[in-house]
Amino acid sequence: MNLLHPVSIFLALLSGFIPSGAVCANPVAVTSPSGNLQVEIATENGELSYSVRRGCEAVLHRSSLWLVLREADLTGGLAIVDTARATRDTTWTQVWGEFGDVRSHYRELRVDLESNPEALSQGALSPGAPSDDAIRPVARFTIRFRVFDDGLGFRYEIPAHDGRDSVLVTDEVTEFGLPAGGRAWWIESYRHNRYEYVTNETPAGEITVAHTPLTIRCDDDLYLSIHEAALTNYAGMSLRRLARTAGDFGKAVTLKADLAPWSNGDLVRAELPMRSPWRTVQISETPGGLIESPLILNLNEPSRIADVSWIEPGKYVGIWWEMHLGKSTWGSGTKHGATTANTKRYLDFAARHGFAGVLVEGWNVGWDGDWFRNGNAFRFTEPHRDFDRETLTRYAARKGVRLIGHHETGAAIENYEEQMADAFALCERDGIRAVKTGYVSDDPNVQQPGGKSVPPGEWHYGQFMVEHFRRVVEAAAARHVVLDVHEPVKATGIRRTWPNMMTREGARGQEYNAWSGDGGNPPGHTTILPFTRLLAGPMDFTPGIFDLHFDEYRPRNRVNTTLAKQLALYVVIYSPLQMAADLPENYEARPDAFQFIKDVPADWRATKVLHGAIGDYVTIARLDRNSDDWYLASVTDEEGRTLNTPLAFLDAGRKYRATVYRDAADADWETNAYAYVIEEREVDANTVLTIVLAPGGGQAIRFTPVD
Ligand code: NOJ
Repeated sequence: MNLLHPVSIFLALLSGFIPSGAVCANPVAVTSPSGNLQVEIATENGELSYSVRRGCEAVLHRSSLWLVLREADLTGGLAIVDTARATRDTTWTQVWGEFGDVRSHYRELRVDLESNPEALSQGALSPGAPSDDAIRPVARFTIRFRVFDDGLGFRYEIPAHDGRDSVLVTDEVTEFGLPAGGRAWWIESYRHNRYEYVTNETPAGEITVAHTPLTIRCDDDLYLSIHEAALTNYAGMSLRRLARTAGDFGKAVTLKADLAPWSNGDLVRAELPMRSPWRTVQISETPGGLIESPLILNLNEPSRIADVSWIEPGKYVGIWWEMHLGKSTWGSGTKHGATTANTKRYLDFAARHGFAGVLVEGWNVGWDGDWFRNGNAFRFTEPHRDFDRETLTRYAARKGVRLIGHHETGAAIENYEEQMADAFALCERDGIRAVKTGYVSDDPNVQQPGGKSVPPGEWHYGQFMVEHFRRVVEAAAARHVVLDVHEPVKATGIRRTWPNMMTREGARGQEYNAWSGDGGNPPGHTTILPFTRLLAGPMDFTPGIFDLHFDEYRPRNRVNTTLAKQLALYVVIYSPLQMAADLPENYEARPDAFQFIKDVPADWRATKVLHGAIGDYVTIARLDRNSDDWYLASVTDEEGRTLNTPLAFLDAGRKYRATVYRDAADADWETNAYAYVIEEREVDANTVLTIVLAPGGGQAIRFTPVD
């Protein structure tokens, strides 16, 4: 649609798309393949902006786009000098994931811009910029848009300039002008515990500064998730709400990119040519559509690992929950958890029940003393005296189970980087194919390079750590090791390029139920995560706690769900490495419910969201990657619910045996959490299942074709 056409201007004014009285100069537009989304890029008075519409409806109002570099302020005097278009429609296969084949279909618009040299000579060059005449100020850059039917991504690209090989980004003025009336699910950035908070649900106008993915319901059929893809050599982006100005016609709220700074205040130290991460907006009529959208993956590069045969999703158990309960300790002594005998017990248990791996935390030197503050004591190749690594390596091999390594760094980055090549080599030698890493520190920051103590250190999500995390992924890949990162930087789809970057924490996981002083995760927590944190990628939530009260160890804490809901989390919260987190004795006490955990896969061919209301309930069905079995699970918040669920996803004409693990009629997370029923029935694609969930409850079902 030509925006200068009178009808277009009328529609645009009607929808609040452009400010009254202002007409964009030389706009260029690109639509999604089906035409459902339209993106327009314009310069006005030398300033660049973009806007997004769905039909006549404004999805994002006209919003600024530019970078401020120390070398040049690209805010003004901009002109579009060239554009290029392309359409791509390809299908690629995930090594592992929540979908098998992924279609990537988009229209691309490349916009080349130049800063008017006059503007530069009139002082647009930022203070502090090098004045060497031989180096010309940065005056050219590109913005590349890719528009899919499920949203869009755009990024900045700065080519190498005559004589210049680096620039310093001092601000990124990427804005997102939201329509009125949005409701947001968000977590505040720059706080002590990184991403580990209960999600806020507020009007979008109450956001201060939020981590991404940030999910917004604009109205009943317009849901957005703003995030980033392919975060590489750049600082992590948060979104800061700007104060309203007179020019904010039609916009309820404007959010602006807020890059986590280096400890000296730099934002991004970029080498040229530079490509920023993609700024992404997923757009859906339903909240479930956000979960089904592969947009973040599609904006990442294909795998850099040619032979992926050693990368295997699977389930694991571990010497882990017992430390969080206080039954045993990470450090040495009479309660040490990672002893040879205890590890053998877990290896036996894993072998008996078909688990692929056994995680062992606290196996190495460094845990004694205040490891929160002294990560430099950690040794990643030196076991505690009572952990006989050689014997256990042989024992695990005999049992057909793999040990899973653990590298808690205490956020002492240099100490870890000095040792990680040797540590991953040792893993390879011992047949360890997966390592869980950790970056706990008693501060939102990690140590600065040079080991200087905090504060102020480097943010967990600033460029320093983004680059560190990537070095670890590459070092692990070189030794055929996959990673499960705790206290990570957020996921941005890097798993496509580095499929050994399998899962991560990056939210409040199960462990908060063991020890947090705030009552643990509320029942609604896992009805929000699939629509927020999990849009970024898999999460090692560590589900499957059967002893929900653990009074013997921590009587003041508990898990705020029914037992059936713990089973449902295996389907609702996707992770290619999925833990059965509870103690072996608690599983062996309930073999009937444990069967679901033994059966459920960690790798899927298809994912469909059948119901969803963010913060209330969600129902997801997934097809096993390696069989024709479907799994379905529903979870609810503190309210009980009845959800009528058509099974239309099943193959038409086939009969299935449904094994249902459900809350009993009188179950309730607070008063009767262990009341569950396991029953079988025959169903087909025409069946409409009535799923009854207890308050704080859940339901998990396995469908096996009867033929
Ligand atoms: C925090 C991690 O989230 C947890 O899983 C781990 O057990 C501890 N750090 C110790 O590394």
